[in-house]
Amino acid sequence: MKNIQTFLVIVGLALIMSACSPADGNFGGSEYMPDMVHSLAYEANVYSAYKHNTWDKESTISRKALSNLHNPVKGTVPRGYAGMEFSGNSPMMEAKLRGETQINEIPVPLNGSAPFYYGDSEEERARAIEEIGINPFPITAEGLAEGKELFNIACAICHGTKGNGLGYLVDDEKNPLAKYPSQPANFTKDDFVNSPNGRFYYAIMYGKNVMGSFRDKLSYEERWQVIHYIRSLQAKAKGLEYNEKVNTLNPSYGRPAAMGHVQDVAPEAGAAGEGTEHE
Ligand code: HEC
Repeated sequence: MKNIQTFLVIVGLALIMSACSPADGNFGGSEYMPDMVHSLAYEANVYSAYKHNTWDKESTISRKALSNLHNPVKGTVPRGYAGMEFSGNSPMMEAKLRGETQINEIPVPLNGSAPFYYGDSEEERARAIEEIGINPFPITAEGLAEGKELFNIACAICHGTKGNGLGYLVDDEKNPLAKYPSQPANFTKDDFVNSPNGRFYYAIMYGKNVMGSFRDKLSYEERWQVIHYIRSLQAKAKGLEYNEKVNTLNPSYGRPAAMGHVQDVAPEAGAAGEGTEHE
């Protein structure tokens, strides 16, 4: 009895040991539980990564499937699609994304990023000012509140909380150490009140002279909400109105939410040109 047990143990050990035969020449060696070594995880577009994955027929056959593109996982929402029913490539969804179906369905670009087709030069600046028109977001109370907060954080230190160019950095009444080398723009001046939105958008993207760029500080929507808020400051300075109900400043700057949806609002004009970039 004891002999048989010893014999079985020895046979067992021999079997296990033989599974660990070393690699040699063209022979890659045998592996014990190879699944632990070679992950079966999905890898997009990496067909050849599975060349080691050949220890049985099944895995060899599934190589292609493992390395192909896959549909979005059921029940998940791709970035930028929050709040929308996602049903694949439907024209309905396209229309929604473009803001063509309902009030408040603003053309927010996917992933909060929008193409910006303008390079950093005087000609490109002029082109942006000419082409970038109405604010793609309707004027809302929440948007103005957000714009105000962002403006006070990012711009007011120079341009002043009233947008009159008298920020803390340059206002020697409030700040005896004020020594800023350049006068920040006074947005309440006619020049700026009469300038189209493109001038503001372009300045945010590229800055101007000593003013730095804010393209990486503010998202696409945030930039436009800041511009709405600047317009509201201008309206205040002029005794006009620019809010969610009325816009007596200039109808081509922004559309009050109360007015409902306008079909022909172009989010950002401009054909592809130099400096084409996604932002
Ligand atoms: C560090 C100070 C500073 C900050 C912060 C700042 N700016 Fe400026 N900005 C300036 C100065 C200075 C000028 C004038 C540049 C010139 O004309 O030489 C200017 C000019 C501008 C102009 C006019 C550009 C033109 O076409 O003439 C706009 C629009 C503008 N800023 C928007 C903003 C906005 C929006 C913010 C916040 C997101 C901001 N700025 C933050 C200093 C600043």
